[in-house]
Amino acid sequence: METETKPLFLREVMEQPRVLANTLAQYVGPGYRLKMGRPPLDEDGIRRISRVYLTACGTSYHAALTARYLLEELACVPAVVEQASECGLHQQLVGPSTLAVAVSQSGRSRETLNALEAARRKGAATLALVNDATSPLARAADGCLTTLAGRVLAHSSTKAFTTQSLVLALMAFRIARARGLMRDTYLEEIQALGRIGETVRGTLAKCRGQVEPLARLLNAHSHLFILAKGSLLPMVYEGALKLKEIARLHAEGYSAGEFGHGPLALAGPDTPVALMAFSDARYEAAAFKDLARSLRSRRVPLVLFAEDGPRKDVELLTMADCAVLLPPAPPRLRPLTAILPFQLLACALGQMKGLDVDRPGGLLNGSRVPDENGGHPDLPAGSPSGAARGALDS
Ligand code: M6R
Repeated sequence: METETKPLFLREVMEQPRVLANTLAQYVGPGYRLKMGRPPLDEDGIRRISRVYLTACGTSYHAALTARYLLEELACVPAVVEQASECGLHQQLVGPSTLAVAVSQSGRSRETLNALEAARRKGAATLALVNDATSPLARAADGCLTTLAGRVLAHSSTKAFTTQSLVLALMAFRIARARGLMRDTYLEEIQALGRIGETVRGTLAKCRGQVEPLARLLNAHSHLFILAKGSLLPMVYEGALKLKEIARLHAEGYSAGEFGHGPLALAGPDTPVALMAFSDARYEAAAFKDLARSLRSRRVPLVLFAEDGPRKDVELLTMADCAVLLPPAPPRLRPLTAILPFQLLACALGQMKGLDVDRPGGLLNGSRVPDENGGHPDLPAGSPSGAARGALDS
């Protein structure tokens, strides 16, 4: 039971099992049929999508990145993700057969709204993924999907990220089905998503104690690189954002493969490197070990995030100065669980430094469009209305 004295940030982290289960229940019907709230396209329109363009800012941008892998892998549809503040280059690819998805917890980020409007002018079907179905972004889009993250009070996003990533995964499955690409294995994956609440609860419980020694190690340093591969990359970008914002640690998420092409020069005894070494592929596991050996030879403090269980890589573990072991999760759930230790770590390190984790102060004034209800536009907001709950069975 969370007490009132806990920071809002931590309370929202611990709410994730419940809000993820609620969000899932909104979209997955009996027999694992997928429902879409207010779809921007009919079945035929979904079939004819030639490209998905996703746009967002900050944490929501990292959630949008998780969708790219799924859309291309499951639904075989090319997907580009553009930071709304950089909206331009990829908009050249947007046209009438594009589905443009704008992701925003508040539904009020000015740049995300502008990017959605630009895509609409190019003839794209527009979809808002928001936590507030009454927000300007939801009203501006042809269709709307909502997360059921509940009221967001902490300034730094946690439950918004995981619920957005979950809905985007379901959207990818839904597009795959409309395009006749729904394989039997996908059904099993959707069933695995059905256990998201308990999986996330178990991961939070297992990681909570483990992040304390890691926070102590990082408290002695000013920089951190966090490396991953493939679909886990958005998690290290988001993990680095949380550490910057909440714990004022200069952290960078980076591709493990790219790290050896220059940035390795910065790693040394004063700059720890964390590896998110979840791997089923033998060549990847070998590459992680080579990298770990090279870092050890430079006396780089090495941190490991890995899965526990019989398949854990003992050789890699023995090279680490500090490790956080997560319970094993089905591959499709990993992106949703892999972010959790970073949220807990950011909170533990921020508190260790005596920071107010509920007031990180990293949001530029004026970044939100005004709130019609008179609230301050730059404060987090968003309580989902029931409007989008009347989901249409498809
Ligand atoms: O409400 P939005 O999702 O549009 O907000 C976008 C970003 O400002 C937001 O995700 C920000 O990066 C987070 N609060 C950081 O924790």
